[in-house]
Amino acid sequence: MANNPIKAVKGVKDILPADATLWREVERRARAQFARFGFKEIVLPIFEKTEVFVKGVGEETDIVQKEMYTFQDQGGESLTLRPEGTASCVRAFIEHSMYHPPGTITKLYYFGPMFRRERPQAGRFRQFYQIGAELFGALEPEADAEAIHLLWLFIQSINIKGPRLYLNSLGCDTCRPPFRAALVNFLTARKERLCETCQGRYQRNPLRVFDCKAQGCQQVMTEAPTIDKHYCPDCQAHFDRVKKGLEALAIPYELNSRMVRGLDYYNRTVFEVTAEGLGSQNSIAGGGRYDDLIKNSGGPAVPAIGFALGVERLLESIGTPLEFSPGHPDVFIVYMEAAADEAFRIAGRLRRTGIAVEKAFKPASLKNQMGKADKSGARFALIIGEEELATRTAILKNLKNSTQQPIPLANLEESLTGLLTS
Ligand code: HAM
Repeated sequence: MANNPIKAVKGVKDILPADATLWREVERRARAQFARFGFKEIVLPIFEKTEVFVKGVGEETDIVQKEMYTFQDQGGESLTLRPEGTASCVRAFIEHSMYHPPGTITKLYYFGPMFRRERPQAGRFRQFYQIGAELFGALEPEADAEAIHLLWLFIQSINIKGPRLYLNSLGCDTCRPPFRAALVNFLTARKERLCETCQGRYQRNPLRVFDCKAQGCQQVMTEAPTIDKHYCPDCQAHFDRVKKGLEALAIPYELNSRMVRGLDYYNRTVFEVTAEGLGSQNSIAGGGRYDDLIKNSGGPAVPAIGFALGVERLLESIGTPLEFSPGHPDVFIVYMEAAADEAFRIAGRLRRTGIAVEKAFKPASLKNQMGKADKSGARFALIIGEEELATRTAILKNLKNSTQQPIPLANLEESLTGLLTS
């Protein structure tokens, strides 16, 4: 009896060719948009020392507490498959002293898989792909508005259905402690209604309770104090300027003072974008400011802001289909048995010139091959039978308008290149 075939790990998925072309188109548009804002690509490792994320993302977060793929390698070192890109990017930023000279603005973007051991469901995977951007070196609220503008333009460039931008400010080291104290007081009085996890963490990190999915905690939090009543003058002024900037750029936003984001490094501006038609996992992007992360990771005091988009969710929420060339062959060679060797040589000659060629490995009937040529989306069919072999002149059929013409085999490369570029 045959063995059961091995299946992919739960919560990960294959991107099949039909989706991969759209995937690459989304990436292409992201690159184009990032370039317009002066961002440069950085390619980061997929695994890091575990402490990069424990310190960066925060010990009390769900990601660090229960979602990381952490393992010891043969040398006994604890390594983790990256659950997100910001902590890695900050590690690289410090390691390569990208902050030199002081005042430098560094704008980076990255693509790639992230790994979180979450409960798989529609739109939630254990390996998923992010497109991320990080802007280092600017404290100004205009940087926040500009980062959000970049995100917004990209979302529009890929026809995302019903995007909504939610905005909040989490304050800073001046205004957060009094707010935290108020929140801890509030939670202490309602401790028994919190889930076990929140009972254990609310004293150390009360903001996390806003993000808890347990029903009891969610109920309690509907009445909890919110940060917007506690901003210090600087944070208030910063947030006001961000909002003004968004208004100047005609970006619609909704304030949500309960949005704290699932990662601990944020301060001041945080934001999320949702899209229509995604069910409960409808967040397609999230980000915010993290002015202390670089200093707390052992680097200089450099402020930063960034965001990341989830590619699987983006692809699910594209409304009007994107127009792009899905990479059809230029020429489909249709040949008879007697011309098999010649067809093989011609395919080689054309491919060496950079022409995209398709042909069967074994000639079926002419009709069958013409059917395949049509289906392939090729612009031309190059037909070679016995007669064409004898006269050294093939037939070139334009598959878009069904006209055909003889074409000498001798200088096929030049004539085809000419026709393809005309
Ligand atoms: P995040 O909100 O954890 O932020 O993730 C960003 C986006 O990644 C989400 O909005 C969602 O689209 C996608 N995503 C997250 N988890 C999953 C999952 N399990 N399955 C599918 N998609 C998922 C961050 O990762 C921050 N590093 C963003 C950032 C950059 N903040 C500042 N700079």
